[in-house]
Amino acid sequence: MLVIGCSNSIDLAKKIANSKGAYFSKLFVDNFPDGELHIRFDCELKNKDVFLVQTLYPINEAITEVLLAAYTAIDLGARSVNLIAPYMAYMRQDKRFKPGEAISSLIVGKLFNVFDSIITIDPHLHRHKDLNEVFKTKTKVLTSNDLIENFIKKNFSDAFVIGPDGESNQWAESIANNIGLKSIVFTKKRYSSEKVSVTGKGLNGVKGKDVIIIDDIISTGHTVLEAVLDIKKFKPKSITIVGIHGIFAEKKVYDEIKKNVKRIVTTNTIDNAHSVIDVSKLIASSF
Ligand code: R5P
Repeated sequence: MLVIGCSNSIDLAKKIANSKGAYFSKLFVDNFPDGELHIRFDCELKNKDVFLVQTLYPINEAITEVLLAAYTAIDLGARSVNLIAPYMAYMRQDKRFKPGEAISSLIVGKLFNVFDSIITIDPHLHRHKDLNEVFKTKTKVLTSNDLIENFIKKNFSDAFVIGPDGESNQWAESIANNIGLKSIVFTKKRYSSEKVSVTGKGLNGVKGKDVIIIDDIISTGHTVLEAVLDIKKFKPKSITIVGIHGIFAEKKVYDEIKKNVKRIVTTNTIDNAHSVIDVSKLIASSF
């Protein structure tokens, strides 16, 4: 077995290989002068089960790179080529919201048929209920809920959990129920990528409490920020943000969130300044 660290996930790939006791190698990647990617494996692939570790953020170059790597691995005689993409991009565009739009999730699904298997963590499943509706290839969906539960148990004695939108119930509500905390799941209206509003009932209960907002993806951060500003009106003791995939695509929104909360914590599916919850062992134990 070979664990290959692609550009976005070198450290995570090393940790996964370590915990499996598997051979690690870094994919060599650079650019031709015109920007084309140039990739090269630095190890023997013949008859090996190859696991390419590449989280899909930043997104587009990462996909091109991992597809070039997959076809090259096949060409070099790998026995199987498998993708470990802790963050699976393009899952939110799961329908044609406006005429003429691409249903990107399904297209990515087709592109990734090249893999023998795909492992990912907490993919954004909304209108697709199951990853098999997106990918024809074998998939394994992992959840970081247990890791988040452990983090909360270690750091809080009596907190109040908020899910900032309907879809977050599978993380926020489920985590809160498992560890016996009260929770509220907000409803969200999205007007555009940058404009959302959230509302929730029963917020009087957060007064004087440590509040934890749990969501799967913090993309621009608008969803979480709107929730924070709403909750603050009800005088909580503190607010902590727990995200699974921390993108933080808009610096202004990120700064505003930081100003208004005690702490931001994410998993390391995407490396960022807050990625303290390590998913490497979770991944390593899944294959
Ligand atoms: C979508 O419904 C997800 O659960 C997140 O709430 C969403 O991706 C967050 O996006 P943003 O940070 O851009 O508001």
